[in-house]
Amino acid sequence: MKLWGGRFTKQLNAAADSFHSSLSFDRRLFEEDIDGGIAHAQMLGAQKIIEPAEAEKIAAGLKELKSEIQSGKIEIKNAEDIHSFIEAELIKKIGEAGKKLHTGRSRNDQIALDEKLFIKKIIPQIKSRIDTLINTLEALARKNSETIIPGYTHMQRAQPVTLAHHARAYIEMFRRDVSRLEDAGRRADECPLGAGALAATTYPLDREKVARELGFARVTQNSLDTVSDRDFIAELIFVNSLIMTHLSRFCEEIVYWSTSEFNFIELDDAFATGSSIMPQKKNPDFAELIRGKTGRVYGDLMGILTVIKGLPLSYNTDLQEDKEKLFDACDTVIACLEVFNEMIATVRFNAETMRRAASGGFSAATDAADYLVKKGAAFRDAHEIIGKLVLYCIDKNKSLEELSLDEYKKFSPVFSEDIFSAIDLDAIVRSRNIIGGPGRNE
Ligand code: ARG
Repeated sequence: MKLWGGRFTKQLNAAADSFHSSLSFDRRLFEEDIDGGIAHAQMLGAQKIIEPAEAEKIAAGLKELKSEIQSGKIEIKNAEDIHSFIEAELIKKIGEAGKKLHTGRSRNDQIALDEKLFIKKIIPQIKSRIDTLINTLEALARKNSETIIPGYTHMQRAQPVTLAHHARAYIEMFRRDVSRLEDAGRRADECPLGAGALAATTYPLDREKVARELGFARVTQNSLDTVSDRDFIAELIFVNSLIMTHLSRFCEEIVYWSTSEFNFIELDDAFATGSSIMPQKKNPDFAELIRGKTGRVYGDLMGILTVIKGLPLSYNTDLQEDKEKLFDACDTVIACLEVFNEMIATVRFNAETMRRAASGGFSAATDAADYLVKKGAAFRDAHEIIGKLVLYCIDKNKSLEELSLDEYKKFSPVFSEDIFSAIDLDAIVRSRNIIGGPGRNE
């Protein structure tokens, strides 16, 4: 049974009918749809738009329906969409009064409502996964405030930093993600009901009451915008995309840190896989898969933006394509955050290898130049002198630490015994106590 059958003389073509049905995915919104229906019905009763007794009957019927769907007693099937399904089941259950639920309401404001209620629930779930990950990274950082690793620019060894500093760089990114999620949540916190199909309604609906009942901060302000707006979905998928960006950058590091060439880390056996042909292999599959799933979430983002692009006001059925992208992006991000958290929590870091890598590649060169500056040289001259010194080291196949004081003095008479403590890795890191630096106190 269609909600709109009256005007039609034929059944919908069977293929067109199944092509058009959104039930396979919008079934996920049954709780939101029912909660919205209850608040709407109670308001209709309070406003005397329908009999208060009928409103109570509807609300009770919807509550019962919800628990019957939750328990599996009623199966969601055979309907155009979740809205049609709930209404049909309600009428089956309570009879005539059920036919009054849709007074002053359209599926157009209803679907916007269901999606906003969904967003209200899912944002805290994503946030709590990020909070867990931030705690894991914080614990890693606390344990490794003096563990030296090479810092890179252009993937060339640049200056030594600590593993704590590296982990905290990601904490910063994830904190920004949390704040973006909160921001997106605040912007979506507006109740659409009352916008009707597009032009609001003549019934004296109490929009504010419905919004309060459903936990919204405000009601939307323009009925056309209300039924056509999917900015809140695009925005949440964008925030999810950026979370994936951050995870994928970390995953890329995990992939190459675990190579024999780097050997900075050893993944726990519970978070690596083998090869069906090469017995020696231990692959960083989970880091790769998270990196790969980033493409999937970006696809959801491109998808929703393209669906909205060029869409005239107000509701158009194109918008039915929004839900799978929203669900997929949220489910993917939650799964990736959970797996990544467990994986990083169990990684073993090879402190010695990382330290050796930091001492190679002349990553103390900047500090050697700063040493000369502290002795009175201009930085540009100091840079030139140390550049020549590095060239000399490359020629002699020596590190800065391995040169003798006499060799240093050939490049500048200013060098004395204290150059060796100035280029000590621990000292280099420890002395960077400026705000934002890797020094222990910071
Ligand atoms: N299934 C629709 C969607 O997902 C619900 C709104 C339908 N409205 C309409 N006028 N056909 O967007």
